[in-house]
Amino acid sequence: MAKFRRIGVLTSGGDAPGMNPAVRAVTRAAIAAGTEVIAINRGYSGLIQDDLKLFRSTDVSNIISLGGTKLYSDRCLEFKTEEGMAKAIATCKENHIDGIVAIGGDGTFRGARDLTERGVPCIGITGTIDNDISSSDYTIGFDTALNTCVQMIDRLRDTCESHARCDVVEIMGNGCGDLAIYSGIAVGATQIITKEIPFDEDKMIAKMLKARAEGKRNFIVCASENMTGEFNEALAKRIQEKTGIETKFARLAHVQRGGSPTYRDRAMGTLMGYKAVELLLEGKSNLVVVLRNGKIDSMDISFALDLDKYYKGKMSAEEIAAIAPDDKKRMDEIVKEKRATIERAYMINDTVSI
Ligand code: F6P
Repeated sequence: MAKFRRIGVLTSGGDAPGMNPAVRAVTRAAIAAGTEVIAINRGYSGLIQDDLKLFRSTDVSNIISLGGTKLYSDRCLEFKTEEGMAKAIATCKENHIDGIVAIGGDGTFRGARDLTERGVPCIGITGTIDNDISSSDYTIGFDTALNTCVQMIDRLRDTCESHARCDVVEIMGNGCGDLAIYSGIAVGATQIITKEIPFDEDKMIAKMLKARAEGKRNFIVCASENMTGEFNEALAKRIQEKTGIETKFARLAHVQRGGSPTYRDRAMGTLMGYKAVELLLEGKSNLVVVLRNGKIDSMDISFALDLDKYYKGKMSAEEIAAIAPDDKKRMDEIVKEKRATIERAYMINDTVSI
C-alpha cells in the first residue's frame, strides 16, 4: 500500500448535487485509513492560489444532504497553462499533498490527467448533472437534476392543461441529451429534441394537430439547450404559428443544478468517494471512478477522455487512426451500447406519448 501523508479533494466545473456526499466519503475514508485530508477550495483555482484547509471528520458533518459543493467550484483557465500547472504542483509539494481526488466532468479529468503526468497522482469521480461522461453510465447529480426537471415540468403541465397550451422547455445537458430524454420520458413529453437524434418538425406538428383534434389540451416539448442559437425559443413561435396552439417557452436554467441530493446521488457520491480513496491508497492513479453495468469500477482517464471525444464526434480522422486496435474495439462497443440505449428510450417515448 502506498504511503500517503495527505490527500487533497476538490470539486471543479459545474456544481452538482451529490458532490458533498462524495467529499464527505473521501474525507472520512482517508481519515479512517490514517491519511490527512486537505480540502482544496474553488477547484483548480484553489490549488493554484493555495486556498486550502485541513479537514477533520467533523468538517464534513451534515453536508450529505446539502446541494451545491461545500468546497465551491470554478472553471479555471489558468490551470490550462504551464505556469498555472507549475503553481498547482508547487502548492501540492509545499503542503505535502501526495494525491488528489478530483470530482467533476471532462475538464476536471483533463486537469487530473495533466497533474498525474507531472507527478501528482489523481483519481477522478464523475460529478455533473449532464450525465455526459461516456466512460460512465452515471454521473453524480444526474438523478437530482432529473427529479428537479420533472417537478418543474409537472408544474408547467398543470397550467398548460388549464389553458390548453404547449410549453417548449429548454433543459441543460451541455450537448448531451440524457437530461432531456429521461425527463421527457418521465413527464410523457409529446416531443423530445436532442442533438443525438434527428428531429422531424413536420412530424411533430402533425402529431400535435392529430392529438388536439382528439381532445388533448396540453403539450410538453423537452428540448436540449444549445441546439443552435435561439432554436428552442424560435421553435415555440413556429409551433404556435403552425398549429394555432398557444405556445410558451421556458428555460429551466440553473435551477436544475441546485437542491438537496436525492437518495441515488447521496449513495453514488458515497460509494464513488470511498472507491476513489481506495484506489489512491492502493497506489493507483490516472483513473476515473465510473458506474458500468450497475457496478462501481474505474477506467484509465486518458482512455476515458479519448472515448468521450470519439463518442461526441470531436476526433479527427488522424486521431481515430492512431487509436490502438484493442482500444478502438472497446470504444466502438461502448459507443454502440450508449447510442442504442438512448435511441431506444427516445423511440419508446415517441411511441407512448401523444
Ligand atoms: O455542466 C453542467 C452545466 O450546467 C451544463 O448543463 C451547462 O451547459 C453548463 O453547465 C452551464 O455552465 P455555467 O454554470 O458556467 O453557466
